[in-house]
Amino acid sequence: MGLLEGKVAIVTGAGNGLGEAYAKLFAKEGASVVVNDLGGPRDGSGSDKSAAQKVVDEIIAAGGKAVANGDDVSTMEGGENIAKTALDNFGQIDILVCNAGILRDKTFANTSEQDWDLVVKVHLKGTYCCTMPVWKWMKDNGKPGVIVMTSSTSGLYGNFGQSNYGAAKAGIYGFMRVLSIEGRKYGIRVMGLAPGAFTRMTSDLPSQRGGEPNPLSLPENVAPGVLYMVSDLAADHTGKVLAVSQRGVREIKMMQTDGFQPERPYTAQDVAAAADKVFFPAAPDKTAKDG
Ligand SMILES: NC(=O)c1ccc[n+]([C@@H]2O[C@H](COP(=O)([O-])OP(=O)(O)OC[C@H]3O[C@@H](n4cnc5c(N)ncnc54)[C@H](O)[C@@H]3O)[C@@H](O)[C@H]2O)c1
Repeated sequence: MGLLEGKVAIVTGAGNGLGEAYAKLFAKEGASVVVNDLGGPRDGSGSDKSAAQKVVDEIIAAGGKAVANGDDVSTMEGGENIAKTALDNFGQIDILVCNAGILRDKTFANTSEQDWDLVVKVHLKGTYCCTMPVWKWMKDNGKPGVIVMTSSTSGLYGNFGQSNYGAAKAGIYGFMRVLSIEGRKYGIRVMGLAPGAFTRMTSDLPSQRGGEPNPLSLPENVAPGVLYMVSDLAADHTGKVLAVSQRGVREIKMMQTDGFQPERPYTAQDVAAAADKVFFPAAPDKTAKDG
């Protein structure tokens, strides 16, 4: 029996890349899948509804269950239609993976208001718009479920030239943390994901340019980690971020030092003198650029 037998999963942005790999693996594991994708190029400037349908056709040809949805995740109407597609076709929602995304990378001084707004809208507001109807349905119907929100090391650690993207991805981290706390009383798990894979989004990064991608860096190698997160194998985990990439699966965690505990009043100079307690010791850089 598959890990997701009898479950209904929504994967946004599943017409390409990582989302496509998640949708196909979820279907193989027995889930009925809503494959959402607006289509269009990487910068979010257009749409092509055949992207989702192509993935659905492949899932059905392989013996799975899936339905396509071409809505825009970054509008409330789109989020509601995506949830409705799941309910109309499969009668329930157990899993939501907010994965859809775009890129408009530029150094900060060259980032226009439009580049800022669109990237934040698709990633951060898109996560809100898709989560809200699913959340309400799970809560109102007393159905436990799991929501995976896609963050990125670019937001959790920072990355040159991605101020809009990094801000959105760090916002998703905060959103995930808050909902994981609110979700406990409803049995709704909320997890964060920082994936890393060779897709059209990352294919022109300096580290990926030239030659064939390493097989370990293909989306199919991230999908089992995400399957783990949405399955009952991870039932004890909520509010956590997993980095899943060719480097394996590992938790990323917010940490604090023991700190400087002053005798009040204290001065700025006292803080400076206690810098070894305030800051972590300088360590080898572990801010791996998984994406
Ligand atoms: N590939 C990586 O290494 C990497 C690293 C960190 C984070 N991520 C994140 O993983 C997710 C998937 O990225 P990917 O690499 O597979 O990219 P991708 O470009 O291959 O796939 C993203 C998909 O989202 C769809 N999409 C874009 N805007 C949409 C909208 N408004 N509504 C619905 N669908 C929309 C696109 O059509 C596309 O099919 C993104 O959130 C991305 O930020 C990827």
